Amino acid sequence: MSTNTVDNKRKVTTARLIEMKQRGEKIAMLTAYDYSMAKLIDEAGMDVILVGDSASNVMAGNMTTLPMTLDQMIYHAKSVIKGTQRALVVCDMPFGTYQGNSKEALASAIRIMKESHAEAVKMEGGAEIRESIERILSAGIPVMGHLGLTPQSINKFGTYAVRAKEEAEAEKLVADAHMLEEIGCFALVLEKIPAALAERVAKEVSIPVIGIGAGGGVDGQVLVMHDMLGINKGFSPKFLRRYADLSSIINDAVSRYIDDVKTSDFPNENEQY
Ligand code: KIV
Repeated sequence: MSTNTVDNKRKVTTARLIEMKQRGEKIAMLTAYDYSMAKLIDEAGMDVILVGDSASNVMAGNMTTLPMTLDQMIYHAKSVIKGTQRALVVCDMPFGTYQGNSKEALASAIRIMKESHAEAVKMEGGAEIRESIERILSAGIPVMGHLGLTPQSINKFGTYAVRAKEEAEAEKLVADAHMLEEIGCFALVLEKIPAALAERVAKEVSIPVIGIGAGGGVDGQVLVMHDMLGINKGFSPKFLRRYADLSSIINDAVSRYIDDVKTSDFPNENEQY
C-alpha cells in the first residue's frame, strides 16, 4: 500500500515540476521502456517517467548506452506514452544524435516529439552542447539537462566512478548547471556526484534538480526501474535502494510453470475448452 499523497489525476507538466520545487515537494522519477510497465508506474503516481537510454543496458543487453539509436528510442518512448496518463514523459536523446551539429540535434529532437509524442527530451552535457540545447529549446521543445556522470561519455571517463570530486570539475559542473538554467532547461539530472555539491547546485538554481547517486539535498530522485525492482541483480551501487526482488519472484514463478508442464499438471480440466 503506497503512502504517497500525490494528486493522482492532475497531469504533470514542466511548469508543475517547477511549482513542486518552489513548494518543497520532492519529485519522483523512474525509467520505463514499454507500455505495460509505464502503465503500472503511472498508476502508482510517478511524477516523471524517463525513457532512458539505459534501455541499451537493461532491455538490449549492451555494456554501454552508446549503441542506442534514435529509431529505438522512439519505439520505446511511443510504447511508454501509450501507457501513461499523468506522468511527464521525458525521452533521452541517444548518443550521436545531438553532440556534433545543432541542426541535426534539432532534427533528432523533432523526430522524438513528432513520432513518439514524448513531452520533453534529456541531453547529457554542459557548455559543449549549449548550441544544440538552445536550438532545440527555440523550437519549443522542453529540455532536461544531465550533468555529473554522463554515461554516454564513458569512453572519455574510462570508469563509472563518482564524478566532480576535484574542485575544477565541481566548479565546471556548477557553471554548467547555471548555464542550463539561464538558457531555459526546465530541470536537471545530477548523476553520481558528492551529495554536498548536488545540494549546493539545487540551492543555487531555480529549476528542479533530480539526483541519482547525488544524495538527499536535491529536489527529487531518479532510479532505473530494473535496478530498484531487483530485476537486474548484478548491479548494486551504494546509492541504489531495492524495493522488490522481482528476479527471485520471476524465477520461482517460471520454475513452477516448467514443473507443472513437465508433470502434466498444467493445464488441468478447468484450464481447457
Ligand atoms: O538512461 C537513464 O536511465 C538515465 C538515468 C540514469 C538518469 O539517464
